[in-house]
Amino acid sequence: MEKAQLVVVDDEARLCESLNILLSERGFLVQCFTDGRNAIDYIQNDKCDLVLLDLIMPQMDGYDVLAFIKKILPDLPVIIMTAQGSAEYAVKALKGGAEDYICKPFEVDELCRRIENALEKRRLHQDYSLMAGKLAITEAQLRQAQKMEAIATLAGGIAHDFNNILMGIQGHTSIMKMHLEEGHPFQKRIKSIEKLIEGGSKLTSQLLGYARRGRYEVKPLNLNHIITLTVETFKPLRKEVVCNLELAPDLPAVEADASQMEQVLMNLLVNAADAMPEGGNIYIRTKKTEVISTENMHFPIKPGSYVLMSIQDEGVGMDEATKERIFEPFFTTKEMGRGTGLGLASVYGIVKGHNGYIDVKSQPNRGTTFYLYFPIVEEKVVSPEEEGTTRVVNGTGIVLMVDDEEEILNVGKTILEIMGYRVICARDGEEAIDLYRKHKDEIDIVILDVVMPRMSGKAVFNRLKEINPHVPILLISGYSSDRETTHKLIVKSDGFLQKPFRIEDLSRSIQQIIRRKKSGVQSLNA
Ligand SMILES: Nc1ncnc2c1ncn2[C@@H]1O[C@H](COP(=O)(O)OP(=O)(O)OP(=O)(O)O)[C@@H](O)[C@H]1O
Ligand SMILES: [Mg+2]
Repeated sequence: MEKAQLVVVDDEARLCESLNILLSERGFLVQCFTDGRNAIDYIQNDKCDLVLLDLIMPQMDGYDVLAFIKKILPDLPVIIMTAQGSAEYAVKALKGGAEDYICKPFEVDELCRRIENALEKRRLHQDYSLMAGKLAITEAQLRQAQKMEAIATLAGGIAHDFNNILMGIQGHTSIMKMHLEEGHPFQKRIKSIEKLIEGGSKLTSQLLGYARRGRYEVKPLNLNHIITLTVETFKPLRKEVVCNLELAPDLPAVEADASQMEQVLMNLLVNAADAMPEGGNIYIRTKKTEVISTENMHFPIKPGSYVLMSIQDEGVGMDEATKERIFEPFFTTKEMGRGTGLGLASVYGIVKGHNGYIDVKSQPNRGTTFYLYFPIVEEKVVSPEEEGTTRVVNGTGIVLMVDDEEEILNVGKTILEIMGYRVICARDGEEAIDLYRKHKDEIDIVILDVVMPRMSGKAVFNRLKEINPHVPILLISGYSSDRETTHKLIVKSDGFLQKPFRIEDLSRSIQQIIRRKKSGVQSLNA
């Protein structure tokens, strides 16, 4: 342990000298002063753990030295040494903040005991203050985390209900669209409704992103592909800005949900364009990077290999106060109706949901750069599925549709029937299993809602697989509070659609699954 530094203040030089020798022998570092002023100078500028102070001294007496020490260093222990045996002196010194007192002449052992006591008391006090400080910080962090968690749960819950409502509206709209001939005056209205549904669906995605949910289809991806596709979609929306891509060739894969990555990029691109109302350049860069030590990073990032994606603009930039709050949900500096303040909150949630990190550098009028780090995975990139057709693909076969929402069942049944399928509906898991048992040889595909009361989608899934391990199952979901379970289920299923989905996508998924099932049977028979 480090030696304690003692300061002895006594106008008697001989006493100082002998204390210096005796205390040094016992392992202390000692500095002696015969004058109060010199002692104070030393204490103010050098290390000192405890002061041994004489009371009666010429020029500056012990009480004044004590008062000064307590003013500048209230925690520094002071032990009074006095030749006066009177209790009065001692009481006055203790009232003035002294830790203890000892009457001359004293035994050195006794003095050492008092010194050790005072130092121990000080150590305990320092430990306590440190702990109390840490506890206060942890408490504040916990409160903040609980608040954010509560908002995220609320956001996720709203997203679920909202997705079901949107799904219903989308379904009815699709049915009407199918019945209307080309050029009908209502076609335009239907397009408007579909646009509104798209807006609502975007909002739920932002909420799900913020709630760190909605990461459903995780695959090894090349971010360069996503960037190229998203920029193509973005360009015509903001003609005043120029997107410059500097993408590393042979970029390693990251494990990600493609649609959430698109959402992240789109939010960052829109923000960048908003920051440059007169137009300007956006630079989108990717590269592989190794984080070896976290020393130079001002945020906690695990050492390892990452894909670093940065989005830089030449826009208005941000001051410190704005930068502090940008990831808060509903924080916006944009006028009413222009921004909801959910963009960066969802970006943050999605990046965290992918075990990534986000950093931002910005100064007023000097532009902004966002840096996103995603951990590299040693797997081959799964090429993105072919673009969704805009056509409904008709088919034949029998579908068992399982959903606890009456409205979704009604709409789903009607649409599937228009597409050419025969539909059996089940309102809960028990009914689904009963019906599947009865009709298992006829049913070609099961469309199963993941989140249902009573018997969960997972339980139904497992029971159906027990009855027939090859039963093709298409999962649909609005939102799931249990992301891990949902993800595991999706991996085992034949397909997944996030509500609200387009009828075109539903028809394509069913087609693909049934086709796969048929080719599987053929190859088995061959
Ligand atoms: N590239 C940028 N340059 C300058 N300021 C930015 C930039 N990106 C974000 N900001 C600031 O951060 C705020 C929050 O951004 P965020 O994307 O979360 O919400 P928004 O853009 O205001 O609304 P929304 O994205 O929901 O439509 C913005 O209002 C803006 O003040
Ligand atoms: Mg935004």
